[in-house]
Amino acid sequence: MTLADIKKTQEEALSQIASASTQAEVEQLRIKYIGAKNGLVQAMMKNLKDIPAAEKPEAGKALNALRAAVTEAIETAKSKTGESNSASRSPFDFSLPGNWTVPGTVHPISQVIEEVSRIFSSLGFTVADGPDIETEFNNFDALNTAKHHPSRDERDTFWLDDGRLLRTQTSTVQIREMLSHKPPVRIINPGRCYRRDTIDATHGANFHQIEGLYVDTKPVSLADLKSTLAYFAREMMGPSVKVRFRPHFFPFTEPSVEADFSCHLCHGKGCRVCKQSGWIEILGAGIVDTRVYKNVGYDEDCYGYAFGMGVERIAMIKHGITDLRLLYANDLRFLQQFV
Ligand code: DAH
Repeated sequence: MTLADIKKTQEEALSQIASASTQAEVEQLRIKYIGAKNGLVQAMMKNLKDIPAAEKPEAGKALNALRAAVTEAIETAKSKTGESNSASRSPFDFSLPGNWTVPGTVHPISQVIEEVSRIFSSLGFTVADGPDIETEFNNFDALNTAKHHPSRDERDTFWLDDGRLLRTQTSTVQIREMLSHKPPVRIINPGRCYRRDTIDATHGANFHQIEGLYVDTKPVSLADLKSTLAYFAREMMGPSVKVRFRPHFFPFTEPSVEADFSCHLCHGKGCRVCKQSGWIEILGAGIVDTRVYKNVGYDEDCYGYAFGMGVERIAMIKHGITDLRLLYANDLRFLQQFV
């Protein structure tokens, strides 16, 4: 390597860089000449040691000048080609695939809770809350459940060591609301409940209910309850849905009823969902038993009704789901159907 070689390399490099027309070409030339690993300038630096001692300082200077000149030329070429490229192109590359965020969907159980809450809120009910861990008093005693009622049994209820339990029904919130508020009380309460049920297509050890309670100091009748539930049925399932009431027994209401809705899928003709009967059992309800008022310290001149419904059951009926376990399997292919 001689001084002349260095000069020649510089001339070649500068002319090549000057005629490069794209960023890619400039980049190739940068790597070729001043690339840190295999660049030509780097290789020439290494060869300095073979040059006669007298010429070394001059050659070193020339090499430094070569590197500086090439670096500068590359910078200039880069901004030149960059400018001309971006001027002729849109800043967006429309051929690139977009950033797609998969939207989430509301779980069918939450959808039912939101819908029922919306309907009863429009009637003046407020949404109340209560804890999953409850006292025996709130879950059984105050609700007038007999001391030896089978639902208190260890085989039916999850008891905690301290005598409390996982609530078996949201009716506990009726008691909580009456203990903490004077009438009028008009609430609904969606929440989780727990029972020692063997899990199958229609039972879970953990499920949701929505409770309703209206208590006032002026008369509230069974007719008020029926009209409220009929309105709810039409809002929930569609305007042509009919409601049927059957006598039943609940310890905390007297009289007690169960309410069936006419099947919204077959309109009463009989199908898989209504088991050919044309009717679907939806909820329990009744006029609040005076013994409950006594248990919460209310004046017995109170009037009111209560009702309670299973959320999973409504979601299954609405969507024609036949196995409750699907609601808890967290399979997005299943859940995303219910938008
Ligand atoms: N708690 C009852 C159950 O779990 C449902 C129920 C029935 C609630 C009648 C009520 C009611 O408020 O009045 O089966």
